[in-house]
Amino acid sequence: MRIAKVTERISYIGVNDRRTALFENNWPIPYGVSYNSYLIKDQKNVLIDTVEYGSDGDFLCKIEALLEGGKLDYLVVNHMEPDHSGMIRSVLAYYPDLKIIGNAKTFELMQKYYGIPQESFMQVADGQELEIGSTSLKFAFIPWVHWPETMVTLDLADGVLFSCDAFGGYGSLDGGIFDSDYNMDEMFLPEMRRYYSNIVAKYNQMVTRAITKLADVPAKMIAPSHGVVWKENPAKVIGLYADWAASKSEKGVVIAYASMYGNTASLADQIGAKLSTLGIKNIRTYDVSRTNVSYILSDIMRYNGFILGTCAYNTFMHPMMEHLCNEIRIMSPKGKKMGIFGTSGWNGAGAKALAKFAEEAKLEVVAPSVEAFGAPTAEKVNPSLEEFAANFVKAIEV
Ligand SMILES: Cc1cc2nc3c(=O)[nH]c(=O)nc-3n(C[C@H](O)[C@H](O)[C@H](O)COP(=O)(O)O)c2cc1C
Ligand SMILES: [Fe+2]
Ligand SMILES: [Fe+2]
Repeated sequence: MRIAKVTERISYIGVNDRRTALFENNWPIPYGVSYNSYLIKDQKNVLIDTVEYGSDGDFLCKIEALLEGGKLDYLVVNHMEPDHSGMIRSVLAYYPDLKIIGNAKTFELMQKYYGIPQESFMQVADGQELEIGSTSLKFAFIPWVHWPETMVTLDLADGVLFSCDAFGGYGSLDGGIFDSDYNMDEMFLPEMRRYYSNIVAKYNQMVTRAITKLADVPAKMIAPSHGVVWKENPAKVIGLYADWAASKSEKGVVIAYASMYGNTASLADQIGAKLSTLGIKNIRTYDVSRTNVSYILSDIMRYNGFILGTCAYNTFMHPMMEHLCNEIRIMSPKGKKMGIFGTSGWNGAGAKALAKFAEEAKLEVVAPSVEAFGAPTAEKVNPSLEEFAANFVKAIEV
């Protein structure tokens, strides 16, 4: 049973999940994920969020141990997604006098998912403060980061901002709970970027709005619901999230292709080689049937150019490329230059399908696209790869 101190009054009672293979049954988490929950001990005892149901058999024991026979007065529900709300019913069954704090939308969702009785609920307003003894908690609504009811909670005495999904990331807490306990560049920062691109990027505008709103909040520490508590350098995570939300990117190219028999793969490598001779140093090439879209999306977010290629497949693009395109459509990355290539046997359906996708998704395609029928030998590729690569490099010049 792991309990760690965040401050004298605040304890970490979260859990590492290394059992789930796919977060949201969609995104691979080879380094696991943590569901963070916190307990504030004061004249009133407050639980901040819970953990996913079934992820921690010790969850209630931790609360009980910390309260030493005392009662739990409040449970703050910053976000209703089940990775954080999963233990609400269990906690309420154990502490039936508990008041569950949320906003009007939280309660609506809580009714839908868990059927919590009205008398257990205490509605708060944006900016409202709640006295808990030596200090107060302050609530700020940040809707759509990443559900409509999302809010954050600040402990005014210790300056700890409980930010829920905002400022979180994949990766279990294998040692300490703070940023200062880790070499953050190793695993957490790449995993945070991947989490952001998979889970949060769709709501970029709302993240920017939330960061602007929280700029005045006197937070000394940021305690999200996934990943490390930012104690040493909270400005770092705010800066990273602000840059990602603003779609800031590095110069570089992601080449992602779908290929059954190697023709399209060969074209992908020829394109990579041409970009390299033109001085592009960041080139990441992925076979979409091999690498999960989670990683490809993360690199698409990171660099300012991406080039998609597919073989033609029964008059469409390859189904695995369709999957990547669908995720790109959902995440709608901004400020990227896109390139298209394809190989086909008779009617060139793959590249056409990619062009149609790009138009519908309002992506900026660098013309012209490259296409070859059959094996993509230099004389068959039209227009030439030199022209294609030169145009693309010009487009991503910063
Ligand atoms: C199942 C299957 C479906 C195909 N459908 C089309 C098609 O609709 N239109 C077309 O022009 N070529 C079609 N082709 C031909 C391939 O697109 C072409 O051989 C391409 O170069 C294969 O690329 P790859 O080697 O990267 O898999 C099809 C091939 C297969 C095996
Ligand atoms: Fe969430
Ligand atoms: Fe979450």
